[in-house]
Amino acid sequence: MLVLNDVEVVYDGVILVLKGISLTARPGKITTLLGANGAGKSTTLKAISGLLTSERGELLRGSIHFDGVDITKCKPFEIVKKGIVQVFEGRRVFQSLTVEENLIVGGHVVKSKAQLRETLEEIYEFFPRLKERRMQLSGYLSGGEQQMLAIGRALMSKPKAILLDEPSLGLAPMIVDDIFEKVRKLTESSQLTVLLVEQNAELALEYSSYGYCLENGRIALEGEASSLRDNDKVKQLYLGIH
Ligand SMILES: Nc1ncnc2c1ncn2[C@@H]1O[C@H](COP(=O)(O)OP(=O)(O)OP(=O)(O)O)[C@@H](O)[C@H]1O
Ligand SMILES: [Mg+2]
Repeated sequence: MLVLNDVEVVYDGVILVLKGISLTARPGKITTLLGANGAGKSTTLKAISGLLTSERGELLRGSIHFDGVDITKCKPFEIVKKGIVQVFEGRRVFQSLTVEENLIVGGHVVKSKAQLRETLEEIYEFFPRLKERRMQLSGYLSGGEQQMLAIGRALMSKPKAILLDEPSLGLAPMIVDDIFEKVRKLTESSQLTVLLVEQNAELALEYSSYGYCLENGRIALEGEASSLRDNDKVKQLYLGIH
C-alpha cells in the first residue's frame, strides 16, 4: 500500500505546486489521479519516485509510506529497490536500443541471468507484439508499441507498485483499451499497486477502482470510480458533460 500524507512540494524554493496532498493506492487496484494541465499530477509521481531534487523541487512537508516503510527521503534507486517504478510521461524509451535491450535495461535490479530471462519471457507473453519486434530499434516502434515497451521495461524489475504518467496520451482508442485491459489484468493477478495519472478521465475511471481529482495542488474530490463517474462536478469538469 502506498500512502501520501499531507505532501507539500515547491519548485525553486518558491513555487508551491502541491499544497498538502493525501492519497492511498492499494494492492490489486488501479487508483487514478485526475487533473487538468499543470494541476500537479506528474509532480506527485516525482515526489513518490524521489525525483524532485533533480528538477530543483523539494518536499517541504508531509510523508510518503510504502508497505508501512517511510520512503519520504529515499533516493530514486532506493525507491526502485523497494519495488516502486515509474513509467514516464511521453513513453521515454531508449530509441537507439532494440526492444529487447530496452527490456534488459529495465531488469538491471533482477539478480540472476536465469531470472532475467524468465521475466523477459513473461513480458513477451504479456505483450506478444514486443516479442515480434524484439530485435527492432525502439525508435521505429509505433506509439502504442513504445508505450507497451515503456510498461514492459518497468515490469522487468518485478515491481510491487507502478506509477503510470498519462499512458493514453496520443494513442488510438483501440490500442489504449488493449493496454489498459492488460494493465488491469496484471494488477489483479499480481496484486500490483497501480497509481495512474490521466487527463482522459473517462478512460481512467472505467479502469480504476478509486479516484482523486487534483485541482491547483489540492485534492478537490475523491471517491470510488463509479461514484465519481456519476458526480456532477466530475461530469462537468472532467468528462465534458453539461
Ligand atoms: N521543474 C520545475 N520547475 C518549476 N516549475 C515546475 C517544474 N515542474 C513542474 N513545474 C510546475 O508545476 C506545476 C505542476 O506541474 P506538473 O507537471 O506536476 O503538472 P501535471 O498535472 O502533470 O500537468 P500535465 O497534465 O500538463 O502533465 C506546473 O505549473 C508546472 O509549470
Ligand atoms: Mg504531467
